[in-house]
Amino acid sequence: MRFRLIVILIVIQIITRWPAFAGEGMWIPMLLEQLNEKEMQEMGMKISAEDIYSINQSSMKDGIVLFGRGCTAEIISEQGLLLTNYHCGFSQIQKHSSVEHDYLTNGFWAMSGEEELPNPGLTATMMVEMREVTEQVLDGVTEEMTESERNSMIRNNAGSIIADFEEESEYQAFIRPFFSGNAYYMIIVEIFRDIRLVGAPPSNIGKFGGDTDNWMWPRHTGDFSLFRIYVGPDGKPADYAEENVPYRPKYHFPISTGGVEQGDFTFVFGYPARTSEYLPSDAIEMIIEEQNPGKIELRETRLDIFNKYSNMDPKVRIQYASKHARVSNYWKKMIGESAGIHRMNGISRKVAYEEEFSNWANSSPEWKEKYGELLPAFEETYALLTPLNVTYDYYREAVLAVEIVNYARSFRKLIELSENNDPLLPEEVEKLKTRTTAFFKDYYRPIDAEVMSSLFQIYYRDIGPSFHPEFLEKVDSKYDGNWEAFTREVFEKSFLDDEQEVLVFLDEYKSKHSRKLEKDPVYEIYQAFESIYLERVRPDLSELNARLDSLQRIYMAAQMEMQPEERFYPDANFTLRVTYGNVDGYRPSDAVKYRYYTTLEGIMEKENPDIYDYVVEDKLKALYQARDYGKYAAEDGTMRVAFVATNHTTGGNSGSPVLNAEGQLVGVNFDRCWEGTMSDLMYDPDVCRNISLDIRYFLFIVDKFAGAGYLVDEMDIVSD
Ligand code: ARG
Ligand code: GLU
Repeated sequence: MRFRLIVILIVIQIITRWPAFAGEGMWIPMLLEQLNEKEMQEMGMKISAEDIYSINQSSMKDGIVLFGRGCTAEIISEQGLLLTNYHCGFSQIQKHSSVEHDYLTNGFWAMSGEEELPNPGLTATMMVEMREVTEQVLDGVTEEMTESERNSMIRNNAGSIIADFEEESEYQAFIRPFFSGNAYYMIIVEIFRDIRLVGAPPSNIGKFGGDTDNWMWPRHTGDFSLFRIYVGPDGKPADYAEENVPYRPKYHFPISTGGVEQGDFTFVFGYPARTSEYLPSDAIEMIIEEQNPGKIELRETRLDIFNKYSNMDPKVRIQYASKHARVSNYWKKMIGESAGIHRMNGISRKVAYEEEFSNWANSSPEWKEKYGELLPAFEETYALLTPLNVTYDYYREAVLAVEIVNYARSFRKLIELSENNDPLLPEEVEKLKTRTTAFFKDYYRPIDAEVMSSLFQIYYRDIGPSFHPEFLEKVDSKYDGNWEAFTREVFEKSFLDDEQEVLVFLDEYKSKHSRKLEKDPVYEIYQAFESIYLERVRPDLSELNARLDSLQRIYMAAQMEMQPEERFYPDANFTLRVTYGNVDGYRPSDAVKYRYYTTLEGIMEKENPDIYDYVVEDKLKALYQARDYGKYAAEDGTMRVAFVATNHTTGGNSGSPVLNAEGQLVGVNFDRCWEGTMSDLMYDPDVCRNISLDIRYFLFIVDKFAGAGYLVDEMDIVSD
């Protein structure tokens, strides 16, 4: 009897304690003191919430920036030195590289301020303050409003709150919804616009393991790069100018060479992009059973084709390296995510939770009235949404994945202009010419032709006939079902796959030439799919998504009402968050246990001069052979490379500082373990791990490998 009761209690715990597994949660910095400080300290933290986020004095938040639009970086010196991932700085490093200055192969180290390289367009956004503005934003919003009335009211309110603020302030602000639109916060930011490249290791360190090791543990990637924030002589953000000076930050992170050990408390401070932890089971089912499989197959087909040609020609491998990385990244992520949800029985868990939710909702007339219809409404809406979402996925992953089709899309403008009898302005011509040159630089027609024929075939097979453009139906009758023959003819007849011809076309362009474009078979293909999307997919998709926004908002509020004692964290939305956990290995599968750290030893084990991803330079080998790690060696004499911990992170957390109990920098976040990538939908403390570069490997590479110790001198190194 007692035993049964305990089992039941445990089951109820598992079901209802949704948002609070150890390690789970991406918390709002300004609410840490109220919600998390106590727990963080119990887990080992020695500092206070006020040290992390304060608006009265300088605090750690003043040392963190959103790097560009998709990563995090931290300030590590009083001269505005910024540390982020190699993969976050990659496009800048690549842009500065040339045959004479091959920074990808050799690395780059500015020996002085003059040698630091500007990156127009790159920004670093620092959060100055955040304020709750829910009441003002929702002022005038009523239950009776339609979703679009509600949205326009909110937009107006937010617009005037921001206008009022910006009138009085030197800073910029924006407003973001939290908890699916149940709360709103104003985020006040300062945006730095002169960010210079200071250092990067060679890519065989910064990308060691490449796409093969991506998302995986054990990992050995030296995934870091260094930048510096510059400001005008007045200390304020400014566009690049020679007289700009290094930024003097209010806060910069001290670096600890003490390392981490099993069980140590760590926290990660950064900009997670998007999670969806509070979805109903129907949504999880749609994503895992209906959306991911198709996207995975389409990407896999593409990657196989990339690989086939890359293996035949090293030039092609270089052309397709970054495309490969981009396609492969989320391909692998989706596989891990689906496997993780299956392994957790994620859908049944949500179903069980929903049963409990229904029981609760039906237990009072008031709740029943408010929430009784929610779950059936979700079910009905997701049933309608699923085929449309899948079609939209295929539009992006099968149609626009064909490079030439996506390229044809950039000529849309010409047709629009000629319809209105407007001329094409010289600067537009230049823009299209630049796009054209850039496009063909890394374009290999045989790959793209094979991609087109394979992906269109899959589209034809998987997507309902009501979403088929006419020409797809004709491949059977006209080409005897031979997709290669069809594709061959498309490429033979099109002029868009010929760089010179396109450039001449643009140079001589007159409005009447738009006919040539409209009759081009590639443009026709693009046009045909685009109209299907615009006419038969988008309208219903937007309507259903609006309906879901409203249902999800109510469901979120309901879940919070059902568990008033529970701490909830809002889904990630590219605002600054804190997540915390403990250093810990994990068991990825039966009989296998992973240790929490990797060492240089493992780099040598993986070394293979014939495999691009596993090349190790002689210089690194020599340091390894001599065990010449200087003050960066761990206590046991090894050179630590990376470690894992239970911090709940996602895309955008790349480059985030990983901090110890004292708030000192011990690592740089750069990935998650594959087995735990379902944490965007559902966190499992057994296998969800973030992967961090050990800060000592970073220091070792800068100092010992690159001989750029003068950069280390600039940092605050503490050893204990
Ligand atoms: N998986 C990591 C992150 O999303 C690293 C991605 C870059 N590396 C790569 N091999 N594609 O996003
Ligand atoms: N590499 C990812 C990024 O770019 C972080 C990995 C993750 O999704 O956790 O943000």
